[in-house]
Amino acid sequence: MPAHPLPLSVTFSTRHAGVSVEDVTLTGEVGAGESVLAAARRVLGGSGYAGHDPWAVDLTADPVRLAAGDEVTLAYRPMTTADLGDLVRWQRAPHAVRWFRGESLDPATAGERYGPQLRGEAPTRMWVLEVAGRSVGYLQDYRVCDHDEYAAKVGDPEAVAFDYLIGDQSLVGGGLGTRVVWTFCRDVLRRDYPDAPRFVASPDHRNAISLRVLAKCGFTEGLWIDVPGQDHPEVVCTLDVARVLGRVTRG
Ligand SMILES: CC(C)(COP(=O)(O)OP(=O)(O)OC[C@H]1O[C@@H](n2cnc3c(N)ncnc32)[C@H](O)[C@@H]1OP(=O)(O)O)[C@@H](O)C(=O)NCCC(=O)NCCS
Repeated sequence: MPAHPLPLSVTFSTRHAGVSVEDVTLTGEVGAGESVLAAARRVLGGSGYAGHDPWAVDLTADPVRLAAGDEVTLAYRPMTTADLGDLVRWQRAPHAVRWFRGESLDPATAGERYGPQLRGEAPTRMWVLEVAGRSVGYLQDYRVCDHDEYAAKVGDPEAVAFDYLIGDQSLVGGGLGTRVVWTFCRDVLRRDYPDAPRFVASPDHRNAISLRVLAKCGFTEGLWIDVPGQDHPEVVCTLDVARVLGRVTRG
């Protein structure tokens, strides 16, 4: 993203039964010292759309683009052992399997591999992504400093890292991945790690779709790192939380 003041647009959509009945594009600027999220909320509020939380569409565009409205709700709920069958199915989906070769590929192995995380005995937390009430994918998050080797490679022990997968192939490619990454950072990571100055994700360097999604959300590409168990380097992508989302202030 270029420096401030940064031109911004927010498209507010109202849909009923999937049909767009109103699309209004509002414009403004991100002021000095203001986060992109705060500016978008301010622009929405100034036009009578207060209370609608925006998400990133493309923060590499000029003006940076966000959206709000829409009747489709996203939710993140803690994963349980009952979700492991879905998890395996999602990892095996044709568009995803290439990036999850090192993971468990049957429910029994998944139970052994993820059991400690699901029982809260490991630092990594796992979430199920629900779109309009339907479980369609998962995310996980962890403090970088809880994984010594990863922390040494990433070089940012204060950051919080996360991974994501939309397992229903019919849902990818239309902007959902960008909305998921942004809203997960906005609503889950910022809430649960209020002191984290940066969020990081490190896709395989060949995963152009994931790298593009992170760029659209405001992440910047940095180090290439070799990760144990992975044959190809990963690219560390970093979000400056204060600049893009604004830090949560403790009440
Ligand atoms: C990564 C994932 C969440 C992205 O979801 P999505 O709904 O496709 O994401 P979006 O539609 O918001 O954005 C995809 C972008 O990639 C672009 N893209 C698609 N194919 C591409 C390709 N081969 N090369 C480069 N960019 C590509 C799209 O054009 C779009 O960018 P644009 O808006 O500038 O046109 C989803 O594909 C997924 O779950 N993949 C499998 C798991 C995975 O890779 N997880 C990431 C691990 S770090």
